Amino acid sequence: MPPNYLTRRLLVSSTHPDPALIAEAAGVIQAGGLVAFPTETVYGLGANALDPDAVQRVFRAKGRPAHDPLIIHLCDPGDLPRVAVTVPPVAERLAAHFWPGPLTLIVPRAPAVPLTVSAGRETVAVRIPQHVAALALIRAAGTPIVAPSANRFGHTSPTTADHVLADLDGRIDLVLDSGPTPIGLESTVLDVTPPLPRILRPGAISLAQLSAVIGPVELGWQQADEQAGLVSPGMLDRHYAPETELWFYIGPSESGLAWMQERIELYLARGQSVGLLVSDEDAEILTWPGVDVERLGSAHNLDQVAQRLYAALRALDARRPAVILARDFGEEGLALAIRDRLTKAASGRVAGNKQM
Ligand code: TXA
Ligand code: MG
Repeated sequence: MPPNYLTRRLLVSSTHPDPALIAEAAGVIQAGGLVAFPTETVYGLGANALDPDAVQRVFRAKGRPAHDPLIIHLCDPGDLPRVAVTVPPVAERLAAHFWPGPLTLIVPRAPAVPLTVSAGRETVAVRIPQHVAALALIRAAGTPIVAPSANRFGHTSPTTADHVLADLDGRIDLVLDSGPTPIGLESTVLDVTPPLPRILRPGAISLAQLSAVIGPVELGWQQADEQAGLVSPGMLDRHYAPETELWFYIGPSESGLAWMQERIELYLARGQSVGLLVSDEDAEILTWPGVDVERLGSAHNLDQVAQRLYAALRALDARRPAVILARDFGEEGLALAIRDRLTKAASGRVAGNKQM
């Protein structure tokens, strides 16, 4: 029997959303309520970005600490001056190139944006999602919408409405359900306020794509993790984490496979259950009886691996093996974002060559 949810779910088409349903959801946003909605990356938890009480409700519903800033979602680049006090020329070029799309830009905050949105910072994160239902909602609400990923703080981001309800049922007013999100990983976050723009979170828009438009770009997330570690140890490490202990191997393919085989044998010898989060190719090789396998698709199709990653992680986690094992997909394109999320899901349990 499907669970009986307290939060209302409205089924909306991802290509031709019913205007009446969108208007209903927009009304909830305008009244200060919380509406989870699909984007091309993951489901977001939406609220009126210019209403400080609504923004507070987002933090409360997620259990998110007040020092972790939110992303503002727009439907039109012309609205950028509503939330940014100045728009750096690089931001304009990137917006023209990649919006709507999975790129979040950190820009100087306009006074109209409540300080709670940016957790007291002088900057604010902004993006235009590439999803017809999301854009329709933002347009109908007539206001910028804050939307962090629609999960409890520290948990895996939701790629389906069921994931949203598993985390937030009864804590939010509405969820718009358009099925699984196409990309499956959160947007690339780029800070364009320093002279050398910095990637703070890798995503579907790669460093090479950004550099092709604006020249040199710095990879900033490793340093950011280390700095945050000094201020608040483990805080960022615990992002995207399942309940089950997850071990993640980074290193050359052959040694990765050998590591997986050793670990599987070790756990099975101890009588412990093992869950694998692996490519189809690995699943064909790692065929121990009793091992619980979630296939992510071919290692040569990283779009699919990314799209399935969080759903597979949640599914495996729900079956509570003693351990989940995963290994790296390299550094090409989306692989870097996949590595980042699995490193965080592992909460420090990373084996192999971490510097790769
Ligand atoms: O794909 C996405 O970006 C999804 C969908 C819903 O749009 N949203 C999302 O939001 O992932 P959230 O809140 O889970 O992640 C926002 C990230 C966090 O790492 C946060 O620290 C960073 O953006 N961020 C937000 N404002 C910032 C700022 N002013 N300076 C630096 N980092 C910021
Ligand atoms: Mg999040």
